[in-house]
Amino acid sequence: MLGFFLEGYGWLPNRRRRADGAPARVGVPGQRVVALCGPGAARFFYEERGIHRHGAIPGPVMDTLFGRGGVHSLDGVDHRLRKAMFLKVLNGDGAGLLERHAAEAWDAAAETWATRDRIVLFDEASRVLARTVAPWAGVRVAESEVDGLAADLVSMVDGFGSLGPRHWRARRARARRERWLTDLVTRARGPGVAPAGTALAAVAEHEDADGTVLDARVAAVELLNVLRPTVAVCWFVAFTAHALHRWPGHRDRLRDADPAYAEAFAHEVRRFYPFAPFVGGRAVRDLEWDGYRIPEGSLVLLDLYGQNHHPLLWPDPYGFAPGRFLERRVGPYELVPQGGGDPTTGHRCPGETLTVALLRTLLPRLARLEYDVPPQDLAIPLRRVPTRPASGVVLEGVRVPG
Ligand code: HEM
Repeated sequence: MLGFFLEGYGWLPNRRRRADGAPARVGVPGQRVVALCGPGAARFFYEERGIHRHGAIPGPVMDTLFGRGGVHSLDGVDHRLRKAMFLKVLNGDGAGLLERHAAEAWDAAAETWATRDRIVLFDEASRVLARTVAPWAGVRVAESEVDGLAADLVSMVDGFGSLGPRHWRARRARARRERWLTDLVTRARGPGVAPAGTALAAVAEHEDADGTVLDARVAAVELLNVLRPTVAVCWFVAFTAHALHRWPGHRDRLRDADPAYAEAFAHEVRRFYPFAPFVGGRAVRDLEWDGYRIPEGSLVLLDLYGQNHHPLLWPDPYGFAPGRFLERRVGPYELVPQGGGDPTTGHRCPGETLTVALLRTLLPRLARLEYDVPPQDLAIPLRRVPTRPASGVVLEGVRVPG
């Protein structure tokens, strides 16, 4: 894994380049690892039943980003059932409500930004999202607790790909929030605590294939699987501010809030900027992909970052061009910032529609704000996973046009 820590997002693309089109064998001590990329590879990765998630995700990632016992590491019928719970909560009528509440929370926050000399957009966006998603999910938080919750949820994401202090901060944040939500789930199994239809009610009531309710800690892990990634949408808000600063010509059209353009912009931000580098599964029997043998036990990695910048899929892949998403429909195995395939049967992110809806709502609001961008470090280092604009995007003199 040394290569990953040294090269970050470039790790798999560099290995694949050397393999000259063939699946890249990646050197990881004690493991046979193969890296794949491209729509055909994505279809194979998501449809091949001989690739399992159980045992494929490294412990340090489980103990920070995902949590133990959650949907990410399930296979077969256990996965289908757990996944259906997420899809019901995230894609039902309630999703529109989350979008509206996010818009209100953003507008209220923007009024306060206008009273301050400067703000760090990444941090502010994480708080707007935490303030919105917690009550929506059935988790009551006092206003005084919002900043701490947002910081912990951001830490869990920020620390999964590093070894140093960020990693330990992430572990502590997860342990703290799992304890907190385990207690809440336990209480929610009594009357009157979990509002019907919320994520809290869903995880408290969910039954696995054997007919038993989830262990309260696993239910807490699943509740965090709603709260944490919703707050992580702040990465894309900060990336958008970066894009608008670097290519200001896009601002006017985004400001007009034509929903089709706002959605295309959201897709281009998710394609262009690096977030999840790859996903992985374990070959549970000998497999074959495109004439290459993948022996049982191999770790199979799908290079998401590489695929989102593949020149055969995306002409001028390092150009930021939202219009590319107005020109053609994108297939289920092409744009993969949140995985590929069918979210009901495979592991593709069940929160993708919600992510795009939040971005469609928030990005035009960002474009409508007036502000100055003072000198700062806006570099997005590709060796850091997950990366982000180093300064968090500092804005000065924010003005909300009437
Ligand atoms: C899975 C990315 C937002 C909930 C995933 C996966 C990725 C991803 C790469 C793994 C796909 C795979 O294993 O094949 C993102 C990104 C987001 C985001 C970049 C934007 C910040 C969300 C939201 C939610 C969510 C808003 C819920 C509110 C989940 C869950 C899974 C998942 C529960 C596990 C699915 C499974 O294993 O079947 N996401 N996601 N994500 N995501 Fe997201």
